[in-house]
Amino acid sequence: MKILVTGGAGYIGSHTCVELLGVGYEVVIVDNLYNSNKKAVNRIEEITGKEVTFYENDIRDAKAMMDIFGKEKPDCVIHFAGLKAVGESVKKPLEYYENNINGTLVMLDAMRKCGCKNIIFSSSATVYGDPAFVPITEECPKGKITNPYGRTKSMLEEILTDLNVSDPEWNVILLRYFNPIGAHKSGLIGEDPKGIPNNLLPYVAQVAIGKLEKVGVFGNDYDTPDGTGVRDYIHVVDLAIGHVKAIDMIKKACGVKIYNLGTGNGYSVLDVIKAYSKACGHEVPYEIKPRRAGDIATCYADASLAKKELSWEAEYGIDEMCADSWKWQSMNPNGYND
Ligand code: NAD
Ligand code: WQD
Repeated sequence: MKILVTGGAGYIGSHTCVELLGVGYEVVIVDNLYNSNKKAVNRIEEITGKEVTFYENDIRDAKAMMDIFGKEKPDCVIHFAGLKAVGESVKKPLEYYENNINGTLVMLDAMRKCGCKNIIFSSSATVYGDPAFVPITEECPKGKITNPYGRTKSMLEEILTDLNVSDPEWNVILLRYFNPIGAHKSGLIGEDPKGIPNNLLPYVAQVAIGKLEKVGVFGNDYDTPDGTGVRDYIHVVDLAIGHVKAIDMIKKACGVKIYNLGTGNGYSVLDVIKAYSKACGHEVPYEIKPRRAGDIATCYADASLAKKELSWEAEYGIDEMCADSWKWQSMNPNGYND
């Protein structure tokens, strides 16, 4: 079975390709390398000892998409390609809508014309907004989303669902990720943000390695056990395996399915800094800063539906997530740019 992975050179995509190849799927990557590096593809091959077909193309290029889908005839698409920086999306809404929505529409049209009607989509817990309740089940209503990035995820969920309504041959799995962190055990692939990281873990990792001075903790007056924000951090390899399990569900002609991929555990910002300090062997310095606009206090998953229907459950805890992040960070202090 052949899986076409858009955004497969990126952080989550590269880890997913490793897991797909590990269980014997053929993998075709389409990535424009806007936020990634070709070396990630070489490292996927190094880890697995298998070959990957790689197209450096933009999913908004209709002709390229038709050519690739026509030639490769994939059985299923895992769709990671997109822009993902929340703050940037507020400043550049048109770029976000154009890339994420238009890119997906162009790709879906090529899929339809070439008869590939199976898609697994990278959605996000951000669609729950400030959640109506925690732990968050898939039944939790979508909330008020505070940024264009999150809105692209929510809209794409609707668009993909509409496709199945129009033609029940479409199988669509919407995976709502919580907070993916960590790296592959080999230390060969991991998260390589461009510029100053926006997310907590890469920021902590760069303080730990000495590239940044200290972590700014955004608020310690939330209604949480230590006052700092609580999130459901999930090891990126667990997340990757979730996609492999989702393919098994696609094979059953499942129609539209939605799953939360999280661990079900919430950790605070200070818990994470403590776990990372343990992993890297020295204290990671931090200071308390004001709250960040748009942040919520607490967000963690009820992932029991994925366990029941996909036989998937996250295996790794916060200590392994930090240890594996540190291995990647210390082996590749400049990411893929060494
Ligand atoms: P990433 O930026 O590392 O990977 C995305 C990849 O898509 C990059 O390699 C980029 O070059 C590529 N890409 C972007 N636009 C493209 C286009 N028009 N054509 C071809 N390739 C394009 O991000 P990631 O963290 O691996 O996230 C993967 C997906 O998961 C994204 O859709 C993201 O929104 C979603 N997601 C991520 C998180 C997270 O915290 N990392 C959480 C929830 C959902
Ligand atoms: C985690 C916690 C911050 C940085 C974002 C997106 C979400 C999803 C995952 C894509 C919060 C605190 C952070 C820092 C800090 N992405 N923090 N200092 O905001 O939960 O989720 O990434 O879909 O859509 O919104 O993740 O890592 O930015 O923040 O104190 O320098 O760490 O306030 O409590 P977030 P994050």
